[in-house]
Amino acid sequence: MSDVKGLVILGSTGSIGRSTLEVVRSFPGSFRVLALTGGRNVDLLEAQVREFRPRLVALSSEDAARELRRRIGDRTEVVSGVEGIIEAATVDGADMVVSAISGAAGLLPTFAAVRAGRDVALANKESLVVAGSILVEESRKSGSRIIPVDSEHSAVFQALQGNRKEDIRRIILTASGGPFLRLNPAEMEKVTPREALNHPRWDMGVRITIDSATLMNKGLEVIEARWLFDVEPESIQVLIHPESIIHSMVEYIDRSIIAQMAWPDMKLPISYALHYPERAELNLPPLCLEDVGRLTFEEPDRARFPSLDLAYRALEEGGTMAAVLNAADEVAVDAFVEGRLPFTAIPKVVEGVMDLHSPLQITDVREVMEVDRWAREKALEVIENRFRGVKWRHL
Ligand SMILES: NC(=O)c1ccc[n+]([C@@H]2O[C@H](COP(=O)([O-])OP(=O)(O)OC[C@H]3O[C@@H](n4cnc5c(N)ncnc54)[C@H](OP(=O)(O)O)[C@@H]3O)[C@@H](O)[C@H]2O)c1
Repeated sequence: MSDVKGLVILGSTGSIGRSTLEVVRSFPGSFRVLALTGGRNVDLLEAQVREFRPRLVALSSEDAARELRRRIGDRTEVVSGVEGIIEAATVDGADMVVSAISGAAGLLPTFAAVRAGRDVALANKESLVVAGSILVEESRKSGSRIIPVDSEHSAVFQALQGNRKEDIRRIILTASGGPFLRLNPAEMEKVTPREALNHPRWDMGVRITIDSATLMNKGLEVIEARWLFDVEPESIQVLIHPESIIHSMVEYIDRSIIAQMAWPDMKLPISYALHYPERAELNLPPLCLEDVGRLTFEEPDRARFPSLDLAYRALEEGGTMAAVLNAADEVAVDAFVEGRLPFTAIPKVVEGVMDLHSPLQITDVREVMEVDRWAREKALEVIENRFRGVKWRHL
């Protein structure tokens, strides 16, 4: 490997993708961007292509790809569709693929990158949620390293350095608790998309922001941790930590707990993954604990935030159940954001679809995508049958 790392960024127009390019920008000469992918944001991709000059760009929409080709001429090859994004994920010469597409749409390209033996900086937690067993198995076979970008998993990964897996007693994932930590059930009924999109600590894409407000994001992270660190679900605990200074912790058999702390900024875990196993100097504000003063922790309220238990249930029932949980949640979040579903109905839709599913063992990534499609249809039916015509107070 040369000193310049060849990078592919899947989802370069998103929040993580943009932060990744900021990190790349601050280390001139360390990285070469070989391929970028986006969904539909042609304007931003055009600007990114002009700045980073990748060999290949892929967009999910052919219309968007045609428009990009028209604007940039033949300076960069532009492809489209899932196959185009997979082509970008496996482009020759890449040392690392940053997986930052949102949702289950990230699975096939991430899987392809892992199968091709690329190291993967994984932000797209859904890949592990929906197909963790086969993704991890594939990475063992191909030699691909999956390095977490999610701040909690990056914290755990950092706390594991130099320690033995068999010495882990417990993984403690911290959660800010989101914007509705202190609302009572009646207030939660009235939550609007605008309120839910206003996260107190992190600036993120739409789906993960809503999932942070329902705590489904933490549930997905429990499933992600189960596969990433090969630990049983009962060894993964979630603690509310509103200050978001400790990003997660590992307790060892000698009762030591090792925590990773920093001001919340995704550039830190992104940079850690890009430079791993080294650390690189970052121009971020220093964490002065005397300014923070107090760090507080509490148990999540599982009655007000039932999504967390749904995630543990998906792990317990195993197989394709987590893919169903994820797909139903994606559909329910869209419906909430579009004003078709109340906030508190999101976990009800997810549970309704899970109740309809008998999990199958996961053998193949395309089968998982079939189950994903089934769960999306069922989620739309549940929304239509159980929630159509209900008047939301925020409309
Ligand atoms: N944001 C954070 O701070 C954060 C922290 C931890 C983990 N994560 C995880 O990182 C992933 C990305 O999150 P984000 O917040 O960056 O999301 P985001 O801002 O919504 O960006 C999503 C990216 O995926 C692309 N995309 C969406 N649907 C696609 C599809 N069907 N096919 C191909 N590309 C598609 C989007 O393209 P266009 O915009 O061009 O349409 C965009 O580039 C998620 O899995 C999330 O859970 C995010």
